[in-house]
Amino acid sequence: MIIVRDIETLQEAKKELGGTVGFVPTMGALHHGHLSLIRQAREENDHLIVSIFVNPTQFLEGEDLDSYPRKEEADRKICELAGVDVLFMPTIDEMYEHDELCIGAPAVRGYILEGEKRPGHFDGMLQVVMKLLNLSAATRAYFGKKDAQQLALITQMVKNYFMDVQIVPCEIVRDENGLALSSRNVYLESDEKRRALCLSRALKRATKMVMAGELSVKSIKKEMFEVLDEADKIEYVAIVNREFKALEEVEIGNTIILVAAWVGKPRLIDNLWI
Ligand code: PAJ
Repeated sequence: MIIVRDIETLQEAKKELGGTVGFVPTMGALHHGHLSLIRQAREENDHLIVSIFVNPTQFLEGEDLDSYPRKEEADRKICELAGVDVLFMPTIDEMYEHDELCIGAPAVRGYILEGEKRPGHFDGMLQVVMKLLNLSAATRAYFGKKDAQQLALITQMVKNYFMDVQIVPCEIVRDENGLALSSRNVYLESDEKRRALCLSRALKRATKMVMAGELSVKSIKKEMFEVLDEADKIEYVAIVNREFKALEEVEIGNTIILVAAWVGKPRLIDNLWI
């Protein structure tokens, strides 16, 4: 595995990579969620590039940019063991210049749910993902369904800008209790870890209702709010189709149920594809 910190060296390293290239962009503090993307990319491609870059432009004022967990040494080992060919860990100066040309998230889909609660977040996210996809020139790039709206917007960007890369959606990885893995879970104190389970429990309740034939979004949301009682603050519960349009009735095979809530220090998100 080679570790690359600047773009010139990355371009050189890429010349050595014949065949198909898989790419997994991350912000580091790698866990089994990231690892599942890395493993899938390893299996499906001749070569594998992983990036670790805590992208400042997708953090809002007052968010956890400075305290975002950083575990460079452990991340390096995980990537090495997982068979990564190139680990790209650029500096901020390498990625950005002053007064940049920016692309923006779509006016509707980019400013609801996460986009409404974190206005501007998706502009910064798309900006860096565009750069990283161009730099990697990958055949396939892997993203988790955990960040469902992010995944939808990246898929739309690739379509709208005719980018030559296949976006591969990957399943959500959870711990043994059902908590969706996230780098920010390290912020959870022990009782909060227990209370954080109400997010996945609310989604399980929704599944049960749907399986029992209840399709009404209003009824499902009502029960989900009750289960989410243990969160400190619920930011949203949404039931949308795969295009992120609000639904009145669950459409089996075309629905995503999303929750966002604060439990202790972290703001947690989770979702379920039905
Ligand atoms: P990060 O939060 O590090 O996540 C990197 C990738 O791992 C994303 O595609 C995310 O959806 C996926 N992921 C995280 N937790 C997961 C889980 N429990 N199961 C499955 N996949 C999971 O998302 C970002 O970084 C950034 O926004 C990035 C795309 C790198 C741009 O800066």
